[in-house]
Amino acid sequence: MTEAHDRSLRISPTPEVVDYVLTHSLPAHPAQAALAARTRRQYGGLARMQIAPEQGGLLTVLVRLVRATHAVEVGTFTGYSSISIARGLEPGGRLLCLDISERATDIAREAWQEAGLADRVDLRLGPAADTLRALPPDEQFDFCFVDADKAGYPGYLDELLPRTRAGGLLAFDNVLLGGEVLDPRSQGDAAVMRAFNDQLAADPRVDVAMIPVADGLTLAVKR
Ligand SMILES: C[S@@+](CC[C@H](N)C(=O)[O-])C[C@H]1O[C@@H](n2cnc3c(N)ncnc32)[C@H](O)[C@@H]1O
Repeated sequence: MTEAHDRSLRISPTPEVVDYVLTHSLPAHPAQAALAARTRRQYGGLARMQIAPEQGGLLTVLVRLVRATHAVEVGTFTGYSSISIARGLEPGGRLLCLDISERATDIAREAWQEAGLADRVDLRLGPAADTLRALPPDEQFDFCFVDADKAGYPGYLDELLPRTRAGGLLAFDNVLLGGEVLDPRSQGDAAVMRAFNDQLAADPRVDVAMIPVADGLTLAVKR
């Protein structure tokens, strides 16, 4: 399949390349730099759970592309990705944020205030699968971003796809899991993610593109 393609024009995301990409993309919202620093202070190495900076502008552009007024995020943490999504919404748009951590989302609430986006965001605390199941069946989303517990991805797809409008976009983060999904012997989250990736790529309800940005981002447009 790919043997016939010349791969010499592919570039590795070295730090220099990522910096170049960042300086030629939508800049981060000023509130995101302060948020990243605060998250680092409070969470140390766990701050790596935030999306990569080069994914921030990408999310905003994708939200703009689908002209989203209704968006949902599964896995908000301290709010970095939610700012990228919320700033791309159409006027009057709303972002529903789902997470289980009160501590992390207290930081997110402050960041939304600082960014002037608090009036666009609804936060619901609790297991995201329960929150999604309890939504009215006719609640429709234009854009869905999934970045929570990896074992939950198949269930999130089941709940979100029927609630996504035709032409709407679903984005799933960390689909490469540091490359672990490529090893057929890997277990746990990697096995779940491998099965999820196989299932989504073959799902006739969506057109899928897996993007090797950061830890892997799959885009699925609903037919
Ligand atoms: C990778 S972090 C999200 C990072 C965030 N998107 C960002 O860019 O800052 C994953 C988040 O999912 C949340 N989470 C884990 N399991 C969950 C569940 N069952 N329901 C809702 N949220 C969950 C965690 O509390 C954590 O804040």
